[in-house]
Amino acid sequence: MWLKILHVLFLLFLMINEDSGSSHEPKVISAYKDLQKYEAKWESLDKRPLPRWYDDAKVGIFIHFGVYSSISFGSEWFWTNWKNEKVPSYIEFMNRTQKPSFTYQNFAADFTCELFNATEWAEIFSDSGAQYVVLTSKHHEGYTLYPSSYSFSWNSVDVGPNRDIIKELSQAVRDKKLKFGLYYSLFEWFNRMYQSDKQDGFLKHKYVDNKVWPELIEIIERFEPEVIWSDGDWEAPDEYWKAKEFLAWLYNSSPVRETVVTNDRWGLGTNCKHGDFFTCSDRFNPGVLQKHKFENAMTIDKKSWGHRNDAKLDDFLTSAELIRELVTTVAVNGNLLVNVGPTKYGTIEAIFAERLRDMGRWLRMNGKAIYGTRPWEYQNEGKDIWYTMKVGSNRMSVFAIALEYPFDTNKIVFNKIGSYMDSSSHVTLLGYPDKISHKFIGSDKSLEITFPEKRLTDKLGLSLAWSFEIDISLNSSSSSIFSILEM
Ligand SMILES: *[C@@H]1O[C@H](CO)[C@@H](O)[C@H](O)[C@H]1NC(C)=O
Ligand SMILES: *[C@@H]1O[C@H](CO)[C@@H](O)[C@H](O)[C@H]1NC(C)=O
Ligand SMILES: *[C@@H]1O[C@H](CO)[C@@H](O)[C@H](O)[C@H]1NC(C)=O
Repeated sequence: MWLKILHVLFLLFLMINEDSGSSHEPKVISAYKDLQKYEAKWESLDKRPLPRWYDDAKVGIFIHFGVYSSISFGSEWFWTNWKNEKVPSYIEFMNRTQKPSFTYQNFAADFTCELFNATEWAEIFSDSGAQYVVLTSKHHEGYTLYPSSYSFSWNSVDVGPNRDIIKELSQAVRDKKLKFGLYYSLFEWFNRMYQSDKQDGFLKHKYVDNKVWPELIEIIERFEPEVIWSDGDWEAPDEYWKAKEFLAWLYNSSPVRETVVTNDRWGLGTNCKHGDFFTCSDRFNPGVLQKHKFENAMTIDKKSWGHRNDAKLDDFLTSAELIRELVTTVAVNGNLLVNVGPTKYGTIEAIFAERLRDMGRWLRMNGKAIYGTRPWEYQNEGKDIWYTMKVGSNRMSVFAIALEYPFDTNKIVFNKIGSYMDSSSHVTLLGYPDKISHKFIGSDKSLEITFPEKRLTDKLGLSLAWSFEIDISLNSSSSSIFSILEM
């Protein structure tokens, strides 16, 4: 009990005392101290403008891949669910499938990746319309997908596939002109240095100094990731992780300082508060305009990030649900990060590939309403109509995206856009070559659109969601929205 109280007091002390810990800074970091555009303080770090590529990209792919992929049961949290939480279904699974002495580490030999072809993955991701790819360099289990200098015998070259997965995938992804990023779990469930720091109320930084910092710097210098997706931060305050010092180095002196973007998981209480983009909670899709850029990190398998053999068909999002997730996210200032869990053989299963290909087919026709857009004055009308916009040189385009087909009337009414239209406004349906008939109804000048015959739109492959482009005068609405958004 006393230990617990002391522990809480220590945490409070750390949160109040902003500068604690900086004296423990590893040598390798102090060498970078000369360039000081950003200070290791949130009010300085928070001023960094978001690199524009990220806001324009809108869609990324997330990959959870590790030793848990070779077990493929439950989720990527297998190890802790089995050993710490002692979840009965996990214990029963181990009883049924392995000898009593079998350890989690024993699974690594079975993480074989014999069919892994990075070019094939990159082709699937490129076809999906995604603009960036984020791979787990190390999840909470601690196993790294490259030969880490700080993870001897617990990495993909020493045990398992005997391959540098990060190197192979980063090259293939960049060959397809996509950006490459890395996920990195700050904590490791069973790392003894971490457990010892935790025991000491996170007042010692043995694990951070000897493992986290050197390894983060190694992956950044070796692979130059354009996204650093931090996670596993939540047990300790950012002072323990020395997160502000790390971000100052990343933004001032790292090889990716101009282009890199980071998320918000940098210690207890930082999420939804600090970082280039916010992820808040997993599958964050707030439904209302967010001033600060955010990312909805979500999974096609609704229940797991890592691959699992116990997934049922109903556990997977349909393609229509995936497009709905994309549109509702982008309309309120978000990017969508779509997660797939590859198999231990190194393959991406057909159901993931199909969902991604459907998204890509939709984006090839509707990408104009997504890529490079910004939120409009209004974000939605009900749950099935969502808006985005793009400013041109003379006029601006508003995109009204319908997520449900009006089977009964073949007509759809947009209440918000009509009053912004003038005599030179046009209405087009993306992917459809001919004129779209429209009229104004009611005193509020609602725009009523008649869909082309369904046999014609079906023939063109227009499905899942329909994007109408309406051009309006530049003046009115664009300026007010830009004053709301933090850019
Ligand atoms: C697992 O096996 C042990 C030893 O045989 C047994 O005591 C335990 O009840 C089993 N647990 C489950 C959940 O099957
Ligand atoms: C990997 O996939 C690409 C694209 O499908 C193919 O051209 C290449 O031959 C494959 N490489 C190997 C080693 O199978
Ligand atoms: C600009 O927008 C306002 C209303 O938002 C309108 O009254 C005005 O006529 C517009 N000016 C031009 C040049 O379109």
